Amino acid sequence: MKFSSSDTNTMLELLRWRRDVRHFKPTSLPEETVNTLMKAIALAPSVGNSRPWRIVRIKSEDIKAKIIANHGEANEIASQEYNNKERSEYQALKLAGLKEAPLQLAIFTDIDPSAGRGLGRQTMPETLTYSTVIAIHQLWLIARTLNIGVGWVSILNTDSLNETLDVDPNWKLTAYLCIGYPAFDDDTPELHRTGWQENTAKEWLER
Ligand SMILES: Cc1cc2nc3c(=O)[nH]c(=O)nc-3n(C[C@H](O)[C@H](O)[C@H](O)COP(=O)(O)O)c2cc1C
Repeated sequence: MKFSSSDTNTMLELLRWRRDVRHFKPTSLPEETVNTLMKAIALAPSVGNSRPWRIVRIKSEDIKAKIIANHGEANEIASQEYNNKERSEYQALKLAGLKEAPLQLAIFTDIDPSAGRGLGRQTMPETLTYSTVIAIHQLWLIARTLNIGVGWVSILNTDSLNETLDVDPNWKLTAYLCIGYPAFDDDTPELHRTGWQENTAKEWLER
């Protein structure tokens, strides 16, 4: 397989338009689309071919309500790290689309998978999590090609999430993803648009 410069340009456009999305339409995704997202995960590289990602698709409304409450509490605690004006700025941010996103996935990393027989991770155990992060990013990009938005939620109490989802103690939360059709399109990151954090391109160092 040979790719061309038009593929490069398309890929760059895709990267430019990939956004973290927190505002979703309630429209549900076709199952075929969900399968395509899962295929993108399955194609990811992983240390020692350990494929350490573990995925829980949240369907129960009761569990969703618990996760919304979990995020609400974690967000309130996080806001206490800021004072005065900064706290109000933080509190005004929308940092998750948990109430609206039609597809929600809790993605864990198994920190002791049998696959891969330990190759690579004996010296760098963190490479298991890196592998899961790459898989998530592949899903993120494929989702964008389908005009679907992904929002990464990390403001959660992970112990309580593991308890809510009743998962293996070796599974560590890597990401909670809110997925669905975006309520609007924007090529500017929301945290930049709201004035919280500008998107600045950094040059590399040379030695
Ligand atoms: C590891 C990771 C965790 C993140 N957690 C959150 C989060 O909890 N809530 C949120 O609104 N955005 C979260 N984001 C999204 C970032 O805020 C976002 O990527 C950044 O502001 C740049 O915007 P862009 O993704 O649209 O380019 C997370 C992103 C990453 C990579």
